[in-house]
Amino acid sequence: MSEHISIAADGLGNAEAYKLISGAVIPRPVAWVASTNEDGGVNLAPFSSFIFLTYDPPKIGISIGPGTVRLKDTLRNIERTGNFTVNSVSVDQLGPMAETSRVYPPGESEAAHLDIALAPSARIEAPRIADSDVSLECVLERVVPLEDRDAHRLVIGRVVNFQIASRVFQGDRIDPAMYRPVGRIGGPLYFIPGEVRRVQATPDPRLPTK
Ligand SMILES: Cc1cc2nc3c(=O)[nH]c(=O)nc-3n(C[C@H](O)[C@H](O)[C@H](O)COP(=O)(O)O)c2cc1C
Repeated sequence: MSEHISIAADGLGNAEAYKLISGAVIPRPVAWVASTNEDGGVNLAPFSSFIFLTYDPPKIGISIGPGTVRLKDTLRNIERTGNFTVNSVSVDQLGPMAETSRVYPPGESEAAHLDIALAPSARIEAPRIADSDVSLECVLERVVPLEDRDAHRLVIGRVVNFQIASRVFQGDRIDPAMYRPVGRIGGPLYFIPGEVRRVQATPDPRLPTK
């Protein structure tokens, strides 16, 4: 057995706890979220505390912090409009995606400032990022306070429409050989997808095949 270091979580400071939890849960997919403000301007920001929660109906969760100066625009917009898109990030989009994590004044659109092309969504008001391979059109289900020291909120969104580039779609599914979203590690570090390996568990005859 390998030697281990044991660290009690309740004795940790805010920054130390962040380093350990965000370093342990990697790679994290990046939800590049597009939302609209009260003037119809489009706000873009990345969030890697992101997961799919259910599939029938499909729901996703994103944990959003309160922001250092004021409530993050994404949370404010989603609470106001009740809809948003989650867009995938390919290696070519890493630079622009990282730029959209900077704090912009509320009225200033990251999309316009960084020349990121948008396209209309099919079923909601918030647009999608035109060059993303996969966009999830979401309506807000609930905002759940997570009761931590930094007052994070879990935003639960229901996916009402999938927008998938035909080049990454095969038959009835997204092709993992073609769909290559990056994963976040922490700070400026990202995983670039590598090998896809097939490992089959012994089939259980009681379960339907998906
Ligand atoms: C790759 C990446 C992932 C991030 N993940 C999160 C996250 O999960 N939760 C969060 O609150 N902030 C996260 N951030 C920080 C936000 O993107 C940042 O606070 C941004 O300014 C919010 O923008 P807004 O005010 O336009 O909503 C992340 C930043 C980067 C670069």
